[in-house]
Amino acid sequence: MKIIQAENYDQMSHIAANYISAQITLKPDCVLGLATGSSPVGTYQQLIRQYQAGDLDFSEVSSINLDEYRGLSPENDQSYRYFMDTNLFNHVNIDKNRTYVPDGLEPDSHKACRDYDAIIRTHGSIDLQLLGLGNNGHIGFNEPADTFAKGTHCVDLTPSTIQANARFFASMDEVPKQAYTMGIQSIMQAKKILVIVSGTAKAGIVKEAFTGPVTPQVPASILQLHPDVTVVADKDALSLL
Ligand code: GLP
Repeated sequence: MKIIQAENYDQMSHIAANYISAQITLKPDCVLGLATGSSPVGTYQQLIRQYQAGDLDFSEVSSINLDEYRGLSPENDQSYRYFMDTNLFNHVNIDKNRTYVPDGLEPDSHKACRDYDAIIRTHGSIDLQLLGLGNNGHIGFNEPADTFAKGTHCVDLTPSTIQANARFFASMDEVPKQAYTMGIQSIMQAKKILVIVSGTAKAGIVKEAFTGPVTPQVPASILQLHPDVTVVADKDALSLL
């Protein structure tokens, strides 16, 4: 695991965007695993700038997102599909037919998960998976558990995750309590993984996840076993390492 220290969120975003654009340049038809949350917003802004400057071409890129809230439509401004459209896809020349997010409106959770695993399988492995880090060590929406879930599954979000995500909703009651998430196996099968983390609030979990024991109670800890992980974190997030 390689850890790169950035001065702050902006520098973290620059470094992460350069890493992703290098991947697209080297393999224009690559499959990107993409993430939501506040961590990647700056990275996506940098990618948009590079595209606008004519330095980046998304026309052959495919993307597979990590997760989606169960019950939210793509038009709901809190859905992850909406997030991806507004924070990246609408601003670059990616073919939206090649962008995938779990179907939050599929009421049959088994079908939703099966369909998403089929999409992942069809694409072979993900070339580069971008990840944020949840406050409790979750990746995607793989919450702390007794075992590592392999494939796409429907999760009951933990109270701490519901609380952390409440900042994006008008009230706590509106935060969905369940989500569909790609499993740990699909994440671990990505050829390369890029983790971005920022802020003092994440310092404790960064230390636990990347230097502590590998355990499903801290899902991100499994990344220690992946052969090609790069963590780009700002000074604050690395302050306890
Ligand atoms: C959500 C997402 C994760 C994300 C995490 C951290 O729970 N499902 O993919 O990594 O939040 O979010 P943030 O980057 O806002 O701290």
